[in-house]
Amino acid sequence: MKKVGVAILGLGVVGGGTYQILTRHYEFYKKVHSVEIVVEKVLEKNRQRVLDLGIPESKIAANIDEICSDPDIDIVVEVMGGVEPAKTFTLAALGAGKSVVTSNKELYCKYSHELEKVAKSNGCGLFYEATCVGGVPVIRALLDNLQGNKISSLMGIINGTTNYILTNMSSKGATYEEVLKDAQKLGYAEADPRADVEGYDAAYKLSILSSLAFHTKIPYTAIYREGITEISEKDINYGKHLGYTLKLLAIGRNTENGVEVRVHPTFINSEHPLASVNDSYNGVYITGDSVEDVMLYGRGAGALPTGSAIVGDIIYCATHDNFRYSPFENTAEADPATKFVTNFESEYYLRFDAADMAGVLSGIAAVLSKYDISVAQVLQESGQTNKAVPLIVITHVTHENSVRKAIEEIDSMDVAKTVAVIRVVS
Ligand code: HSE
Repeated sequence: MKKVGVAILGLGVVGGGTYQILTRHYEFYKKVHSVEIVVEKVLEKNRQRVLDLGIPESKIAANIDEICSDPDIDIVVEVMGGVEPAKTFTLAALGAGKSVVTSNKELYCKYSHELEKVAKSNGCGLFYEATCVGGVPVIRALLDNLQGNKISSLMGIINGTTNYILTNMSSKGATYEEVLKDAQKLGYAEADPRADVEGYDAAYKLSILSSLAFHTKIPYTAIYREGITEISEKDINYGKHLGYTLKLLAIGRNTENGVEVRVHPTFINSEHPLASVNDSYNGVYITGDSVEDVMLYGRGAGALPTGSAIVGDIIYCATHDNFRYSPFENTAEADPATKFVTNFESEYYLRFDAADMAGVLSGIAAVLSKYDISVAQVLQESGQTNKAVPLIVITHVTHENSVRKAIEEIDSMDVAKTVAVIRVVS
């Protein structure tokens, strides 16, 4: 029977989940895949963590060199997160001829061009299903199953932590701080949760997914990014009242005008399939010219769901002799021929604090009209005359730059102040 030796770098949430799955299914993999997958070494500073997982102390490697020089190790699983020392260790493993399976979206997003070059020249595999959308097999779907398509758009909830936070703020009225703590306890959040709540994690994932979908490198620096830190419960509730659900949405579009990539809080029509993706679940809605619409759905974070993606890659690697690499030219920057659209089109939810007196609404409407922004809905809470009251406007489709100019002008008037600008997908 073929024996494949594995080393795991990092035994945090994902490393622990991976080890549990490999141990639990050891006999099953021998039976169904005719391969014996053995965890030979682990690299983890926290000895107690290793022992708690039932891993013998003798398997703790002193350093990365011990792993790279071990002839019994074929696959190195990098689940440490962050750029360094993960990058140095990954390059060392690939350089030593070991295939690498990673869940590290920041590293893969920023340096896949460098890692892939070393993997190719050493004839080893570089697998990254676990970098995006936890247990949902979206990378393989883009690499293989959706090849019969030109993909025009990819829209998704691709961060479990923020989805967990927004769902619980919306359904239980919990505060942002309370729910963030829960998400950390449940092992969804990154070591530094700012990566989640400020949208970096989703931007890294969108860079990886949109590069695959649009067959050209989409660097994360090209992605417009806004997190959920400024979101207030008030907007979640006004949106709900108007038939929208708030999500941190990653959007990639490939249009005649160019590529549009953005991550920001978005009100989605509550009837849209993505609106019912709750808690740590993720969903990716892909539109292709042959398949039309496809939605992939599942747990986007957590030990076993992400471990499931890692183990899928380990088995793929263990049972294939030839490895494939990016189906596009994997460079650090975008191809100079790729045009990015920053003045994108969207509908908008605008909330103003407006003086409740004659002429204010018409003043706001006049500015919106000046920038060719057509109003679809207006909601105003009644209040005391001359006191500021919430005024909510939903626009028809307009341009990002028009909205920016209009709110700047409205804010310069004494009677209204913009307090929230949220893009809408209806
Ligand atoms: N922090 C990430 C998330 C983990 O919440 O989605 C999975 O990539």
